[in-house]
Amino acid sequence: MTRPGVGVAITGSGSAVPSTTLSNDQLSQLVETSDEWIRSRTGIGQRRVAQPSVESLASLAAAAGQSALDAAGLEATAVDLILLATSTPDDLFGSACQVQAALGASQAVAFDLTAACSGFLFAMVTGAQFIRSGAYRTVLVIGADVLSRWTDWSDRRTCVLFGDGAGAVVLQASEVDQLLGFEMRSDGSLNGCLTLAYQEQPQSLLEDISVSQGTYQPVAMNGQEVYRFAVKRVPEILEKTLFHAGIDRDHVDWLLLHQANQRILDAVADRLGIDRDRVLSNLVNYGNTSSATIPLVLDEAVKAGKIQPGDLIAASGFGAGLSWGAAVFRWGVVS
Ligand code: ACO
Repeated sequence: MTRPGVGVAITGSGSAVPSTTLSNDQLSQLVETSDEWIRSRTGIGQRRVAQPSVESLASLAAAAGQSALDAAGLEATAVDLILLATSTPDDLFGSACQVQAALGASQAVAFDLTAACSGFLFAMVTGAQFIRSGAYRTVLVIGADVLSRWTDWSDRRTCVLFGDGAGAVVLQASEVDQLLGFEMRSDGSLNGCLTLAYQEQPQSLLEDISVSQGTYQPVAMNGQEVYRFAVKRVPEILEKTLFHAGIDRDHVDWLLLHQANQRILDAVADRLGIDRDRVLSNLVNYGNTSSATIPLVLDEAVKAGKIQPGDLIAASGFGAGLSWGAAVFRWGVVS
């Protein structure tokens, strides 16, 4: 709940993507697929891939974070908390502190939050709670992933879907609360539908003591299960969030969904009865960048002047866990 006078405003956005593009035609040199198949089933035309030794998770996240701070007109030293939503850190101990150092956000505590494609939305809601409690006034929320590191480039069912990128928003304490509602859910019984799992490799240390020295296996997905989950759960949670916030869906200016697949975006919009031209989409250029998709497409729409201060945005993230969530907010500083 909001303490009197401590609301949350979303005051700036930023994004960063690797410079290297991988087109559908280029992918068809790796696996048996085609531009036509990928576009018609997913809406994806190309994706960006981070280049080894050039672009890291932390460098993309820091660039996105810096551009969000610039947009909000803030110095990095004003940030109290950095939340880095990622499933693909440079370091399993976490990459948020590297981002904090790169930004020079010397006053900020920084940590990673892992919830796959729901990560950015969960991090935004988490950051808002620190502001509402009065603990912090300025929070930088970054969603960044380099799934190209963990994609099986010989599996045409998954490798056509993913790309790399980063996006960020700045949350600030505000008299007027612009975060109007949120819901978050998990269903671990469906965990096996979408995994990037550690595979054990037992290694004997002593006669009766072994340890596991394995590694992570590439992304594995039951595409049809994930599709069914998304088109059922996403409209449901958006409806619930709008209802609890007392907002009529006709008043929503923009539907801001995790960019998994154009068919999912269209199905969710249709089920909610929201015009498809109010659904933000940049899948054609970037594919599914996991926790980066929501702030990346948001930032593009803000920079293009599509989203204006005061616009009402209904957002939903969903993915591995399985996990899903929604948030309804007004964009920018509204007096
Ligand atoms: N190119 C050509 N053919 C392909 C490709 C490809 N890239 N991928 C699969 N096929 C083939 C399959 O082998 C299969 O052929 P078969 O019948 O001879 O075996 C045929 O196409 C149909 O395969 P399906 O898996 O049934 O294809 P579907 O129509 O379900 O589309 C897709 C696959 C796009 C993944 C779909 O299931 C989907 O949209 N799922 C949602 C999952 C998603 O978006 N995940 C993203 C990550 S999760 C997240 O972000 C929430």
